[in-house]
Amino acid sequence: MGRIKTGILNRNQGILDFLNLKEEARMNRELMSVQRFITQERFKFPKATGEYAALMSEIVLTAKIISSEVNKAGLIDVLGMTGNVNVQGEQVRKLDEYANDLFMHILKYSGHVCAMASEEAEQLVQGPQYTNTGKYVVMLDPLDGSSNIDANVSIGSIFAIHRRVSPAGQSGELQDFLQPGHKLIAAGYIIYGSSTMMVYSSGFGVHGFTLDPHIGSFILSHPDIKVPNECKIYSVNESYYKYWHKAIQHYIDRVKGLGENALEKEMSSRYIGSMVADFHRNLLYGGIFLYPGTVKKPNGKLRLMYEAIPMAYILENCGGYASNGFEPILDITPKELHQRVPLFMGNRDEVQLIEEYFRRYNPELCEEYFAQKAG
Ligand code: AHG
Ligand code: MN
Ligand code: MN
Repeated sequence: MGRIKTGILNRNQGILDFLNLKEEARMNRELMSVQRFITQERFKFPKATGEYAALMSEIVLTAKIISSEVNKAGLIDVLGMTGNVNVQGEQVRKLDEYANDLFMHILKYSGHVCAMASEEAEQLVQGPQYTNTGKYVVMLDPLDGSSNIDANVSIGSIFAIHRRVSPAGQSGELQDFLQPGHKLIAAGYIIYGSSTMMVYSSGFGVHGFTLDPHIGSFILSHPDIKVPNECKIYSVNESYYKYWHKAIQHYIDRVKGLGENALEKEMSSRYIGSMVADFHRNLLYGGIFLYPGTVKKPNGKLRLMYEAIPMAYILENCGGYASNGFEPILDITPKELHQRVPLFMGNRDEVQLIEEYFRRYNPELCEEYFAQKAG
């Protein structure tokens, strides 16, 4: 940004910059709005129609509105519960409902989406007939970390986009959603934290944009994010320790510097309880996030389609990795909309080590998993 202050309009310098393509690329990044970024990404696809860029604009608009509501949550009547229970069996908060309705409304009428699936909606949601031409389906966790809303703790929204596989010209169908994560077109999240940020990938790296609330635009602030080499943090709700499988108990002992495989330099523990916020911090600082299955709940809590797949996609686009303990999250073909999955994600080596711990300490679970998959 310094260049802009110190004389972007200097004519001679401008000509030099023009002749120097590297400098041109650098200048292009300055004051890069998310819309311009997405429009430029389109140039990589000569056949692109602009529909995807238009859909992303609608997501950006929704994010700005939710951000504005979250920022004044204590002043308007959006805190607390609605009194309803969602399909996940969880209490619905007012802001959950608000964010869900807003996403649904804006995307439904955008014309680019033939169906949507949300953590808050039991069935998939189809748009009016004219949206049957939409090429895409969107999967949403409209508000993540909602138990933290009333305490002013960071929360987020998560989205993922598939190209439809059902024939164009009719409503979107379940099969459009039951695709493995490696087929995604794009995924991202918005974190409503000390500032609002959108982090996003369409398969060409992972990029972060910070919302400037004064101008109402997301501006590129974290280009080409890469998972740091060092894994310094572990994030898990340790109160479930006694319910975990041996593999996870041993792994967590290790990162705390205990037991036979103890790390010499233990990791730090950080757990917010908003997955987006835990994920975002770990992405920037280096860390591993775990939401394991337990003896009582073998599939854990987090949802494959709305939480695991989008984050796994982001990680794989910046050097990280996500697994259910047995195989890559992105290789799992969902069987139903609200499927849950054990989730381990962050630095690749650490996640792969967890897979190894499962093979070493719980071989019976591995056998069962792959037998079920085959049969
Ligand atoms: P959501 O608010 O979308 O239902 O998700 C809450 C999730 C996730 O954000 C977080 O990591 C996890 O719940 C926390 O669960 P525990 O309280 O069991 O740790
Ligand atoms: Mn969530
Ligand atoms: Mn949610």
